[in-house]
Amino acid sequence: MDLQFSFCFVFFTFTAVFFLFSFSLYILRLNRCCNCDVCTAFITRSWAAEFVNLSDWYTHLLRKSPTGTIHLHVLNNIITSNPDNVEYMLKTNFDNYPKGKAFSTILGDLLGRGIFNVDGKCWRFQRKMASLELGSVSIRSHALNVVVDEIESRLIPLFSSVAENKDGAVLDLQDVFRRFSFDTICKFSFGLDPGSLKPSLPVSELESAFDLSSKLCAERAMAPSPLIWKIKRLFNIGSEKNLKESIKIVKRMADQVIKTRRETGFSSNNDLLSRFMGSISDDDYLRDIVISFLLAGRDTVASALTSFFLLMSQNPKVVKKIREESDQVMGETRDTLASFKDLQNLHYLQAALHESMRLYPPVQFDSKFTKQEDVLPDGTFVRRGSRVTYHPYAMGRMERIWGPDALEFKPERWIRNGEFKAESAYKYPVYQGGVRVCLGREMSLVEMKSVALCLIRRFDVRVVNPSQALRFAPGLTATVSGGLPAVVRPIDLQSS
Ligand code: HEM
Repeated sequence: MDLQFSFCFVFFTFTAVFFLFSFSLYILRLNRCCNCDVCTAFITRSWAAEFVNLSDWYTHLLRKSPTGTIHLHVLNNIITSNPDNVEYMLKTNFDNYPKGKAFSTILGDLLGRGIFNVDGKCWRFQRKMASLELGSVSIRSHALNVVVDEIESRLIPLFSSVAENKDGAVLDLQDVFRRFSFDTICKFSFGLDPGSLKPSLPVSELESAFDLSSKLCAERAMAPSPLIWKIKRLFNIGSEKNLKESIKIVKRMADQVIKTRRETGFSSNNDLLSRFMGSISDDDYLRDIVISFLLAGRDTVASALTSFFLLMSQNPKVVKKIREESDQVMGETRDTLASFKDLQNLHYLQAALHESMRLYPPVQFDSKFTKQEDVLPDGTFVRRGSRVTYHPYAMGRMERIWGPDALEFKPERWIRNGEFKAESAYKYPVYQGGVRVCLGREMSLVEMKSVALCLIRRFDVRVVNPSQALRFAPGLTATVSGGLPAVVRPIDLQSS
């Protein structure tokens, strides 16, 4: 008994001393004492009196900065909206700006060694394999088939039933798009259908476990010190206990799918997992890879579609033009879905989606950690170990990048000589850019164009409060707090 008591005493004393020591080091490193205006406003949250979202405040500060770069000393975080800096960190000096240990520790329990969470050799291997797979013609047509199937069998029936309701039933667009993209990314990655957009709108166990895991991981990133969640994890208490349980469910389901696929054979299947199985025999590694894809392809697409439909409600002229263009390309019978070729010819629709993500990028900011001290092209000195963040949300709102009409929604700015013309990825890093540019860009555009078009051609979708300033919930991907309720009516062909 005495021995047990002594052991516990030594253990807890050691933990407490270690905690206090590490916490003091952390405070010193963060320069918590900085009392410059920006740091004071950040610590006291006084910015919230004037701005709806933290990203809006950063946008304001970045706009005022002559270089388009600011330094939040208390977080040892340099934030930039300068395209030259973005190009430098994502391409020119890529090796000096990895995701870093801080990021991979936060997401490590959920994503393991998945592509999102690793640097170096492990990342290079997955990147090579994934880009070969995602670039192949057969997987692209598989992706379109998955999307078309989900639209025909679930999305259109759901919207039709709401549109037929004479009492003007309201649909939360964000919730519907999250369910839609969860079903499609699971079918695409695993060949597994969670059925979350079925008419009864069931909450699948996998979906809610996945939601909770990504939410709690995002909360880890926002903790004032990583020690807080690390200690909670050590003792398996509070949010860390919930996180552990939800990750267990996600991994258990992924393991089950992998096991079944090994037993039944995978060579005739088209999903991403089956294709990776041909080259990887380590099932834990396979599971990590596929879970990364779920995270990458789910909330991003749902977020982009949600803000797109808010902008459509604010800009009926754009809706009219999208209908006119699609009638020209696909004919005026509006009960068919767009083919791959149709989608390529819909330049105005492509422009409208890009313009919408310029103002509301699904990934509002993205951070790297500096390996060696450095100087950015705009002259900003970067200490070793600093966090450097590029900020697509702020960049999309900068007059110095997009001109005096930067805050206006104008798809025309993407059209030259009647065709869509892409901008530099460093001016528009919505899909990141450079060496680690998003691998799902093409797939996401096919998915978003298909969904947007099928709804716009069939229904009149009006967001209930279109003039609202969107308030975003904290998280890895932009999510509107409280969702985006909309009224759906059958289309009036005369006036459209
Ligand atoms: C509107 C939709 C999307 C947007 C805005 C988007 C944006 C991004 C961004 C900003 C990154 C960089 C993240 C980081 O390194 O921290 C990224 C990476 C990635 N995305 Fe996407 N994404 C979208 C859809 C998709 C889809 C549908 C897939 C999968 C099919 C996908 C697969 C990936 C992968 C695998 C990476 C990691 C690339 C690497 O680290 O080398 N994305 N995406």
